[in-house]
Amino acid sequence: MAAAGGRFRMAAVAWVVLFLGAVWAVDRSNFKTCDQSSFCKRQRNTKAGSSPYRALLDSLQLSQDSMKIQLVNEANKVPLLLELYGLKGNMTRIRINELNPLKPRYEVPDVLIGDPPTTRLSVMGRDDNSVELSLGEGTHKLILTAKPFRMDLLEGRELVLSVNSRGLLVFEHLRLKKDSFSDKVSSTVVSMWDRIKNLFSRAPSKEPATEEEGAAEASDASLPTEQESTESEKTEEASKGADEAEEEPGSWEETFKTHTDSKPNGPTSVGLDFSLPGVENVYGIPEHADNLRLRTTEGGDPYRLYNLDVFQYELYNPMALYGSVPVLLAHNTQRTMGIFWLNAAETWVDITSNTAGKTLFGKMLDYMQGGGETPQTDVRWMSESGIVDVFLLLGPSPKDIFRQYASLTGTQALPPLFSLGYHQSRWNYNDEEDVNAVDNGFDEHDIPYDVIWLDIEHADGKRYFTWDPNKFPHPREMLQRLAAKRRQMVSIVDPHIKVDSGYRVHNEIRSRNFYVKTKDGNDYEGWCWPGSAGYPDFTNPEMRAWWSSMFAYDQYEGSMENLYTWNDMNEPSVFNGPEVTMHKDAVHQGGWEHRDIHNLYGFYVQMATALGQVQRSGGVERPFVLTRAFFAGSQRYGAVWTGDNAAEWDHLKISIPMCLSLGLVGISFCGADVGGFFKNPEPELLVRWYQVGAYQPFFRAHAHVDTTRREPWLFGEDNEALIRDAIRQRYALLPFWYTAFYHSYRTGEPVMRPLWVEYPQDVTTFSIDDQYLLGDALLVHPVTAQGARGVQVYLPGKGEVWYDVHTHQKLHAPQTLYLTVTMSSIPVYQRGGSIVARKERVRRSSDCMQNDPYTLYVALGPQGTAKGDLYVDDGHTYNFETKGQYLHRRFSFSGNTLTASSADPKGSYETSAWIERVVILGAGKPAAVFLKQAGVAETRLDFTHEAETSVLTLRKPAVNIGADWSISLR
Ligand SMILES: *[C@@H]1O[C@H](CO)[C@@H](O)[C@H](O)[C@H]1NC(C)=O
Repeated sequence: MAAAGGRFRMAAVAWVVLFLGAVWAVDRSNFKTCDQSSFCKRQRNTKAGSSPYRALLDSLQLSQDSMKIQLVNEANKVPLLLELYGLKGNMTRIRINELNPLKPRYEVPDVLIGDPPTTRLSVMGRDDNSVELSLGEGTHKLILTAKPFRMDLLEGRELVLSVNSRGLLVFEHLRLKKDSFSDKVSSTVVSMWDRIKNLFSRAPSKEPATEEEGAAEASDASLPTEQESTESEKTEEASKGADEAEEEPGSWEETFKTHTDSKPNGPTSVGLDFSLPGVENVYGIPEHADNLRLRTTEGGDPYRLYNLDVFQYELYNPMALYGSVPVLLAHNTQRTMGIFWLNAAETWVDITSNTAGKTLFGKMLDYMQGGGETPQTDVRWMSESGIVDVFLLLGPSPKDIFRQYASLTGTQALPPLFSLGYHQSRWNYNDEEDVNAVDNGFDEHDIPYDVIWLDIEHADGKRYFTWDPNKFPHPREMLQRLAAKRRQMVSIVDPHIKVDSGYRVHNEIRSRNFYVKTKDGNDYEGWCWPGSAGYPDFTNPEMRAWWSSMFAYDQYEGSMENLYTWNDMNEPSVFNGPEVTMHKDAVHQGGWEHRDIHNLYGFYVQMATALGQVQRSGGVERPFVLTRAFFAGSQRYGAVWTGDNAAEWDHLKISIPMCLSLGLVGISFCGADVGGFFKNPEPELLVRWYQVGAYQPFFRAHAHVDTTRREPWLFGEDNEALIRDAIRQRYALLPFWYTAFYHSYRTGEPVMRPLWVEYPQDVTTFSIDDQYLLGDALLVHPVTAQGARGVQVYLPGKGEVWYDVHTHQKLHAPQTLYLTVTMSSIPVYQRGGSIVARKERVRRSSDCMQNDPYTLYVALGPQGTAKGDLYVDDGHTYNFETKGQYLHRRFSFSGNTLTASSADPKGSYETSAWIERVVILGAGKPAAVFLKQAGVAETRLDFTHEAETSVLTLRKPAVNIGADWSISLR
């Protein structure tokens, strides 16, 4: 829930005004524009031109796996160190830091899953002003030009990406404030730094050296020494630097509204530009409420990445939202590339294009006249602190990009099966009776569901890990009742902890010295749901270990195996903080400022929570944790949702590009609040939202406390039937969803994906974001418009065919077809050539379907062939990883024979589930059908054939899903 919504009445007058004045629109004045963020303004004021940086070719050092070279800013003589790594699998890493910083700069820990394996770099040639290096398996090379400094990356003879070609490398080195510049003061600054670090050494156990420090020391040790780096010269540089910066207001202190940021380190920002010749389409850098294809930012603000609790967010603009993934994808018909900017500070991204504003016709004219320039997109990244640490993912295909990015930050965690079912939430289910009544309602109305959710009111005075003694006096009995129906519950556990000496959680965190500190060394306190709250320092591994331990069944009283967790407000949201978040000069473990780690806070909260759930089961059970804030790598810990949307048609529509953008950068488990969080949806909107949500990865209805109740049966029988049908469609496809998630877990491929991922050469698909693919087999074009009579569906693939999954009608591609829709329509198409497994018996929950039989839908391609697969395991433990207990089955149809075999002989799993039906779309009528299994005599199968639709249905093959067999049509 966003700040200032609902019943919570803040003492602060400002909040009352905000609440009373609630018109539907974000209060933009609460959030900074680039101009109001002094570093963004300073960075942006540097215009493209000749770079003041020169690479010192004499300083070049080549080792087995990296190249190091110094860069010097000709204007202020401050030296930087550039490190370049060739990484296995067509990736390059570039790091730029100060050669001799006054103190270490922040380097993001814990996001990469390990040290990426490197490949050998070799110098191919050099002259007075450049060096040519060979990367990877010789497929790529890099030309480094010394003056002005730039780097150009080539594949063969083709330039694919340039770094600093517009001269926008801006690296604000650490310096001492001018008027305090003297030896005496400088030693004071250093001792202040030590003191801040020591704030954290009061904890009972010894403070481990942070990874960042270790890394910084290691890189210090390996620095090549340069004559410029003597102490006295460093001092001189620092004072020069101070001179320049003094002129810029906001460099040493910055005020926004009523908040002053003390900026003890002064200006520390870093920025760099990348040029992508031949590229007109860029994607990614979530989270923004915007189209899938990113727009140019000329004349407006850059896209902002700064995790914020934005009350009533607006659509189609580049404002920051709850989460940040600093990964941008570039795509054209020839290749896909990625830029991963590993920095957790406030970041802005400018996108410019030389073809922006030109019409398609204009571009064609250019082309025909031969005068048009090559299209090019330029991307500029600007972060407030830290270092430049950037990964260039060179593809060349979209799937190579997913694999490359996954090799750095990990893949989507395989969710427990139940979490792919339907979730019923609202703020709030009032008490145990209410939970019971809603739970029973689903049975009475014959609607499957898996999880009921409890929002903040369930806890005793918003003290998380507790239960309201009046409303939820018997949590275990309640959980047991749900467990008996094979259902689960999720309770909210937010990272703001009520400051209350009677609250054990608070007392333990305080006594262990685990709270984030203010710049003055006190425990940081802010306003949030419980009133005055402390914020545990989740960057501290000891704090995280303690937090994880709180999910043990004997620590979290009233919890049991079927209780899972929701982490909300973890941007973190601070109602009375600047931009509704934490002060940037607050201090974390190791003395790092909140400024440095801001976008990582939510990532760590979910990490510690997920780990706690794993630990409570002794490492056996998979966790389920939903988070609102996220960063690169959050896919390893669970699901995300798009935060506090509204019951409006545009919000329904934008849920598609928002989740597609997340999927492209590794986070597949995404959904939007079904029905819209704020406001009351009209029944038509609610029904449409269920139809959309049923085909998005995370499927949860949720609602604000001030909305009227909206359980599916409250809108009349017709609407109830429509909602029931949408949810049942979801459940029938669970085997397919689970298999798609298994692929995502293995490869990093998105579950819900833009069309261009499967059709990378089809330019028509590049800006489509009102339809998408699930896996590579289903195309979904949900109805998202009020009063819709029809939708325009684009079916891609030259020479391919698609089948309407409801009518089984066969359609030829490529084509754009107008499909007439009614209120029951959810346009979904199965790709010709694919095989999809479903479970078509209606049950109470996914767990009840565990041993249900399967139906295979074989959709024949233009050549009369098809293939597909199915992943099966117990649905909730890690036994698939630790004991090989899973089945990965492959189905293929060719030469009129359907064959089932193992796709992965390493796995085996006992299940009684069998195949009850095979439906072949696009098939002629055979004379007879035979089933063959090893060691068993051939048997004849009954079948029916519909001539009109060419649908052949084979009855009761009755083979176990794990068995090998073949069925031939004769
Ligand atoms: C690396 O890129 C080259 C050139 O595009 C491509 O042929 C090769 O398959 C790629 N290798 C990997 C491991 O992705």
